[in-house]
Amino acid sequence: MSDHRESWSARSGFILAAIGSAVGLGNIWRFPYVAYENGGGAFLVPYLIAIFAAGLPLLFLDYAVGHKYRKAPPIAYKKLMNSEALGWWQVMVTLVIGIYYASVLSWAGSYMFYSVGQRWGSNTEDFFFKTYLANGEGLAFGFVPTLFFGLVIVWAVVMFILYGGVRRGVELANKIFMPLLVILFSILVIQALRLPGATEGLNAFFTPNWEAMANYKVWLAAFGHIFFSLSVGFGIMLTYASYLNKKANMTGSGVVVALANSSFEILAGIGVFAALGFMAQSSGVPVKDVVSGGIGLAFIAFPKIISSMGSGGDLFGFLFFASLVVAGITSMVSILQVPIAAFQDKFGWSKNKAVTIIGGVSAVISTILFSTHSAITFVDIIDYFANNIGIVGGGLLSIILVSWFRRPLMAQLQAHVNQYSSIKLGVGWNFLLTVITPISLLIALLLTIKAIITDGYGGYPASTLWLIGGGVVAFFALGAIILSLMKDTTSKEN
Ligand code: PHE
Repeated sequence: MSDHRESWSARSGFILAAIGSAVGLGNIWRFPYVAYENGGGAFLVPYLIAIFAAGLPLLFLDYAVGHKYRKAPPIAYKKLMNSEALGWWQVMVTLVIGIYYASVLSWAGSYMFYSVGQRWGSNTEDFFFKTYLANGEGLAFGFVPTLFFGLVIVWAVVMFILYGGVRRGVELANKIFMPLLVILFSILVIQALRLPGATEGLNAFFTPNWEAMANYKVWLAAFGHIFFSLSVGFGIMLTYASYLNKKANMTGSGVVVALANSSFEILAGIGVFAALGFMAQSSGVPVKDVVSGGIGLAFIAFPKIISSMGSGGDLFGFLFFASLVVAGITSMVSILQVPIAAFQDKFGWSKNKAVTIIGGVSAVISTILFSTHSAITFVDIIDYFANNIGIVGGGLLSIILVSWFRRPLMAQLQAHVNQYSSIKLGVGWNFLLTVITPISLLIALLLTIKAIITDGYGGYPASTLWLIGGGVVAFFALGAIILSLMKDTTSKEN
């Protein structure tokens, strides 16, 4: 495989694919809800700081490692500093993310069809939780057929794209649907801004709440979100960069990607908060109390905006959710690309074999877990642990290993990136990665663990939390240890 690594057809192809990976449900579904749960205006400043303190420095590190060693995480990290287990930890995280991401994706897919006739009615919150998700009390494993069919379709499409190869599938979808999403999404946000009460929502989003910022949990959420949002710190950009031409302007591309990603995210925040302001005004409740479940926010707020368009909302809603699905699918494909490339590199599997095994197993687990009455509970807890422990922990380790324990490597990687890049990495990057990023991540990780132990999360019973969240973390750790101890199979299949 190493000799014939497929490569991106052009620089724009890589940038588009990287944006395609970064822009997805994280921007439209996750960002607004995390911002809402963390006090709106209190979240924005920590979020911006997290981009510069952790997101961008790590993005460049991912690029550098992937591009220099031209492998997926496990082998790249093994070559780099003999820490294959770290690479496998990241691979395990991507597997878990893929499994629950499919679920949210299938919700968006279903909402394409609910748009026709605006089937969510006037109480979009009840529709989402009660009618659509049939959300049960506590852990309820009963079968929900609608969710099941959504998942089957999502996985079928994803597998189909994966079999088609990295270039053709991903690049084509991006070229058509990214621009469409930008257009539709802008219209949606403009419509939201015209709703009565919108300014109230925007005030809640943009007014920095300095007091709330003293709460360390807001900062944890910001650092936990940025990696997910940029798709950094767990091998995605690393894998993508491994497909990049030798003479690549990595930093220039990285800045474009980060800018596009954050603009999108903030736009989503504007749309959702405007809708919240509208809902707050019509129900006479403050913005911060207008919806109860943060995690379903996008599926409560966007339908509200769509309904305000009158009957034209039907077609608009359909197209909007369709382009959201495509943005999500490209991210989903990028997620699965990591374990697929990793297993190919380690075991010499053919691509089809890797897609069949990795995709197939993930699809089955995902479909079983998320077609139950507890779908949203699983999503919520798994999302929290995968981001705040899985991604933050993996990112932290990769940074420390390089910048503290392999100092000479920093210089090498920096020189490697600078070779063809427009923006040169210098002492600033070095200082961030050596001091600021690792220390802030370390603090974030320790405080998260402390918060889980003392306060739990999301009001779930401790047993549920430990079963699901603990299970996810154990899966990361065991997978990392076992897979890194296994012998590489060098024989190549075709
Ligand atoms: N960044 C993507 C998004 O915002 C999600 C993603 C997470 C993609 C992890 C790849 C890896 O939706």
